[in-house]
Amino acid sequence: MSAQEQFNRSSSEIYKKISKHVPEIEWKVHAPLIEKINKLKKDKNAVILAHNYQTPEIYHGVSDIAADSLALAVEAAKTSADIIVLCGVHFMAETAKLMSPDKKVLIPDMDAGCSLAASLTGEDVRLLKKQYPGVPVVSYVNTSADVKAETDVCCTSANAVKVVESLNTDKVIFLPDQHLANYVAKQTKVKIISWKGSCIVHEQFSPKEIQDIRKANPGIKVIGHPECPSDVLDACDFAGSTGGMIDYVKKNQPKKVMLVTECSMSDNVQADNPNVEFIKPCNLCPYMKKITLQKILDCLENEKNEIFIEKKMAKAARQSVQRMTEIGR
Ligand code: 13P
Ligand code: SF4
Repeated sequence: MSAQEQFNRSSSEIYKKISKHVPEIEWKVHAPLIEKINKLKKDKNAVILAHNYQTPEIYHGVSDIAADSLALAVEAAKTSADIIVLCGVHFMAETAKLMSPDKKVLIPDMDAGCSLAASLTGEDVRLLKKQYPGVPVVSYVNTSADVKAETDVCCTSANAVKVVESLNTDKVIFLPDQHLANYVAKQTKVKIISWKGSCIVHEQFSPKEIQDIRKANPGIKVIGHPECPSDVLDACDFAGSTGGMIDYVKKNQPKKVMLVTECSMSDNVQADNPNVEFIKPCNLCPYMKKITLQKILDCLENEKNEIFIEKKMAKAARQSVQRMTEIGR
């Protein structure tokens, strides 16, 4: 089979999977970009790590690994590729660089930020530590490297409770997501000192929206991300990281489900679970959506948008991420 025939075949396989979510007219633009990116990846020994919120043409078309933020950190440390292209937001690319300091880590758009990461600086953490001397700091990975450098252990929503309890103290400073902090506080006796950060995507959901969806869809399973406010999580059947939510759908195969999280994830998970009907929220993360196939191609072709972290900061930040990955899920 010629290379072109091989591509046509794999391209039509990809499209079959995501055709419900990507109109044919868009696929005509995506398909040649996917072909170029996948070829370039091989030529340059590059790997594409994508977060679960990336659009279906990225998630199913070009990613080698698509996962939640904890798994992306672990995979970044394991890869033998020379180049990592991180399709996600800036803190995820920084985390990949911390875990693979000798590799070239690229992000297709440097402006792919995060409202949580933007809510706190390293200087804020230093002030908090002065205010609460001796109290350990746990930071969500949704933070910049300068915050991680001031942190004892990082966590994600997949292991936040486990990380907090691993410290064996009666108090922790937990940064920066107030809602994740509430979620953890409900599951542990450790006193949680929190910060006022929040995710602009998850704070938009309300219990009323969920009640209305339940009324219109009897029997539906509603599963939410721990970045949602606690009254929203109380209205859900299950809460978990994006990876945890995907596992829930895979394992339970509910007839109908609503994922109370970023919108693209429902498309991605539906493509892998054709027997499950998804009632889709339409809250998009504007930062995640900055990543496009065209920008991935451009960044890989020209090896641009490389992540650099100052050495001393990187050393301290790496420790807090490594401790998190050692604790695991
Ligand atoms: P996960 O760690 O669950 O993948 O979530 C990351 C994120 O940014 C959610 O908004
Ligand atoms: Fe940040 Fe929220 Fe976007 Fe996740 S969904 S990257 S927490 S702004």
